[in-house]
Amino acid sequence: MSDNTAAKRPAGKCPMDFNFFDEETLNCPYDFYKTLQEQAPVYNLPDTNIYMVTRHADVKQLLKDTETYSNNFTELLKGPVPDEAVTAIYAKAWQPVDTMITADPPRHRAYRTLVNKVFSAKRVNEMEDYMTAIVHELIDNIIDKGECDFVREFTTPLPVYVIADQLGVPRKDLEAFKRWSDSFARRLSQLATPEEEIEDAENIVEFQFYFADMIAKRREEPKDDMISDLVSTTISDPDSGETRPLNMEELQSILQQFLVAGNETTTSAITGGMVSLIQNPEQLKALQDDPSKIANAVEEILRMESPSAGIWRVVKKDSEIHGVKVPKDSLLMLRYHAANRDQELFDTPDSIDIDRDNAGDHIAFGQGIHFCPGAMLARKEMNVAFEALLSRLTNFAINEDKSELEYWPNIVLRGLKGLHLTFDKRD
Ligand code: HEM
Repeated sequence: MSDNTAAKRPAGKCPMDFNFFDEETLNCPYDFYKTLQEQAPVYNLPDTNIYMVTRHADVKQLLKDTETYSNNFTELLKGPVPDEAVTAIYAKAWQPVDTMITADPPRHRAYRTLVNKVFSAKRVNEMEDYMTAIVHELIDNIIDKGECDFVREFTTPLPVYVIADQLGVPRKDLEAFKRWSDSFARRLSQLATPEEEIEDAENIVEFQFYFADMIAKRREEPKDDMISDLVSTTISDPDSGETRPLNMEELQSILQQFLVAGNETTTSAITGGMVSLIQNPEQLKALQDDPSKIANAVEEILRMESPSAGIWRVVKKDSEIHGVKVPKDSLLMLRYHAANRDQELFDTPDSIDIDRDNAGDHIAFGQGIHFCPGAMLARKEMNVAFEALLSRLTNFAINEDKSELEYWPNIVLRGLKGLHLTFDKRD
């Protein structure tokens, strides 16, 4: 490992110099991460019951201990004090049940086995031609302009079109589909204003009724899409063991997770990756000269961007990590984004290196039983997107006047607010 001492010690800082919840820190957290990794790898955020874990080895290890650290953070997702008006809106639809992301073993396994089947390698491989067609269609729409709002015109529609198509949502409904997806992401951010909470609740209820209708139609007349797979399959009831179809609450929960987990993250990974490449022109050129490097570049981008920046775990029993006592009922914030920039594992972690030998050691898709079931799909979308973009366009530049190269203030999801690009057609 090379000696990058300069990067190693953020001059004279200590953890208390940072406020994790500040927009400034969320936007540029690297000094904070390094300070924690060096001085407080398990750090109790002041005035909270949250313990933040930043080292790669620790995050990886803790993710495996599902006995002590639970994914059942449903209560947390509801926000601090549920507003009456917001609760009343949610009461109109189906109430949350714990299926994958908020379920622990053995319950988790029943749903996860089923979702793994829906995301089979066969199905994802069969989607490649369709994805390639979408990517080229999106490029056709911008290529003659020489410029574009990259987030609005490329990285947002791509995953939305792909997942919507797999779910069987017609294109005419895609605008609503994106609106629902944004509301789920904002709800997860825990930073919505009271007005936004109401707007999000309305959107989420609208989503539920839309899909309830679609589920009923697929029950009557199955098609070749994921919803038909989900409604026609059976699970072994996590409580009684009885074999039965998924009920409406479970179906809604699974569909919501596809939407929340899949769209924002893939959009952010491609957007952030493009910025890193443009800011490092020698890397971009190397990739354009040799597209066989794209697969490793995608891993490196996932490592650096880590769009799923951190995840909660609820501490089920008193425990101790690195000598820090972590009491029962406190929360762990396992920081994937920090872990993927841990210089114990990655040389010069804040620099993009498309040839990095161990880029694939990142844990951007998690680890253990909750490992992202959409990883194969997201990787394929990213590969297809960069292959097409780099083969058809060149001389990329960031239009600084129009771009908002800042990250949304969101604790768990990380993504740039906006990116406008200029480019030329490639000969
Ligand atoms: C670059 C894109 C993506 C990233 C970085 C990402 C990241 C992650 C991570 C870190 C987890 C683990 C959460 C935990 O530890 O509890 C996860 C879980 C999950 N992801 Fe992804 N994801 C991406 C794309 C997708 C896509 C495209 C889908 C589906 C359409 C998806 C669906 C899910 C679901 C359903 C879970 C919950 C799995 C479980 O709890 O068993 N993700 N994802």
